[in-house]
Amino acid sequence: MRYIPEPFKIKMVEPIRMTTEEERRKLIAEAGYNLFSLKAEDVYIDLLTDSGTNAMSDTQWAAMLTGDESYSGGRSYYQLLDNARELFGYEWIQPVHQGRAAEKVLFPVLIEKPGQFVISNTFFDTTRAHVGLAGGRPVDCVCPEGLDSMHEAPFKGNMDVGRLEAYIDELGVENIAGIVMTITNNSVGGQPVSMANMKATAEVAARHNIPLVIDAARFAENAFFIKSREEGYADKSTREITKEFFSYADIFTMSAKKDAVTNMGGLLGVREEGEHVPDVRSLVISSEGYITYGGLSGRDLAALAVGLVEGLDEDHLEYRLGQVAYLGARLDEFGIPYQRPAGGHAIFIDAGKLLPHLPWNGYPGHALAVELYIEAGIRGCDIGSYLMDRNPETGEEQQAPLEFTRLAIPRRVYTQAHLDVIAEALGEIKKRAEQVKGYEITWEPKVLRHFTSKLRPVD
Ligand code: F0G
Repeated sequence: MRYIPEPFKIKMVEPIRMTTEEERRKLIAEAGYNLFSLKAEDVYIDLLTDSGTNAMSDTQWAAMLTGDESYSGGRSYYQLLDNARELFGYEWIQPVHQGRAAEKVLFPVLIEKPGQFVISNTFFDTTRAHVGLAGGRPVDCVCPEGLDSMHEAPFKGNMDVGRLEAYIDELGVENIAGIVMTITNNSVGGQPVSMANMKATAEVAARHNIPLVIDAARFAENAFFIKSREEGYADKSTREITKEFFSYADIFTMSAKKDAVTNMGGLLGVREEGEHVPDVRSLVISSEGYITYGGLSGRDLAALAVGLVEGLDEDHLEYRLGQVAYLGARLDEFGIPYQRPAGGHAIFIDAGKLLPHLPWNGYPGHALAVELYIEAGIRGCDIGSYLMDRNPETGEEQQAPLEFTRLAIPRRVYTQAHLDVIAEALGEIKKRAEQVKGYEITWEPKVLRHFTSKLRPVD
C-alpha cells in the first residue's frame, strides 16, 4: 500500500509504560473485565475514543498562552467567532464545554411537545439521550447498506430519504420536532454522508418546515470524503465543501474534541438568528456560563479557534483518513472483517463474524476488546449488544444489529508503527479465535451499563 505522508514532526513525546501479558491478565481481571475501569497508564495504545485525545499543534499551544480570560467579551471569543462564522456561514455561534452541552441546551427548545419525534441518520448515544431527556423520541433512519458490514459503498452514513418521508407521513408532520444529520455517522462506523444526500434531506425538511440540525463532530473528515469520493467535488476545497454542506441546515451542534483537534470544547450554531436563539441563550447562561465563554477557559477558546482551521487542512485530512485506511488494508492481510470501507475516525471490527461461536449475549464485541488488551495492551470498546441497555419496560436484554469492536484513532498521536502493532495483534487473535471466551455481566447499573458494569468470562 502507498505510504501515508505524515504532515508533522514530533517535538515532544509522552513515554508509555510497557506491561507484560501476565500483568495485563491480572489488571483486566481486577478491573472486572471492564475496559473503562483500567488505568490509562496500564494501556499501551489507547483507542477507546478519538474524542479529546488529539495532539495539539505548537500553534495551538502558543495560542493558549495568549488566551484572554476575561469573563465577558474576551479577545479569544471574538477570534473563535470570526473563524467559525467564516467557515460555516452561520450568524449565531455559541461556544459550550463539549458536544453534549450543545445538545442539552438545544433539544429542550426544539422539542415543543412531549412525545415529539426527532429523526436521524443515526443518533450518537448522548444526542439520543438528550432527545429523550427533553421529552422527545429518537428514531434512526440510516440507509440499508449502512448495516451491511461487507457491502462496499462510498456513503454508507447516508439518511434513507425515502424512509424519512414515510416516517413523516406516518407520524404526522406536527409530531416531528427536528431532523438530525450526524457527520460522519459515528455509530455505523464513521461512514460519511454525501452532499447529494444532505441536499435531498434538506429538501424534505424544508418542504415540511422541519428544522434540520447537523451533528457536526467529524465535519472535516466528512468534507474530505466528499472531495475524494463524490462526483463534482474533486476540485473544491474542504472549506468550500463545508460551507456548502452547512448551508443546507438550520442549526449545528458540534463536539470540538474531534475534528477541531482540541482536548475540550464544543459549539452550537444557528444559521439565521431567529425565535429559538433567546431561549437557547438563557439555557446556556444558566448551565454553561456567560455566552462569551460558554463553560470554557479563554485559552480553550483560543486553541479551538486555531483547531477549526487546522482540522480542515487538506494535508492533515489526507494523512488522517489515509492512516485509518492503512490500518484497514493491514487488517485485510490478516482476513479480519470490519465495517467496509474503513471509516473516518475508526475501524469497526465485525466481532460477530470474527468470533462466530459466541452468541450475541456473550458480547462478541466486548470479548474481542478484552482479548486485544490482553494480547498487546490495546484498548478499544464494544459497539454492540453489551453497549445496548436493557429494554426499560421489560428489563430484557436487547440485541444490537451488529457486534462491533471499535478502534478509534486519536488525531496526530500514533505512528504507522503503532498501527502495525494493532493489525498484527489482531492477526494473532484470529489464529486462536475459537478459544476466545464470551462474557456475562455480574453487576450492572440501570442505564449506560457499559461504563461501569462488572463482568466475568464464561467457560
Ligand atoms: N456527537 C457525536 C457524533 C459524537 O461522536 C459525540 C461524542 C458527541 C456528539 C458528544 O460529544 O463527547 O463532546 O460531549 N463521541 C465520543 C466518541 C465520546 O467516543 O465517539 P462530547
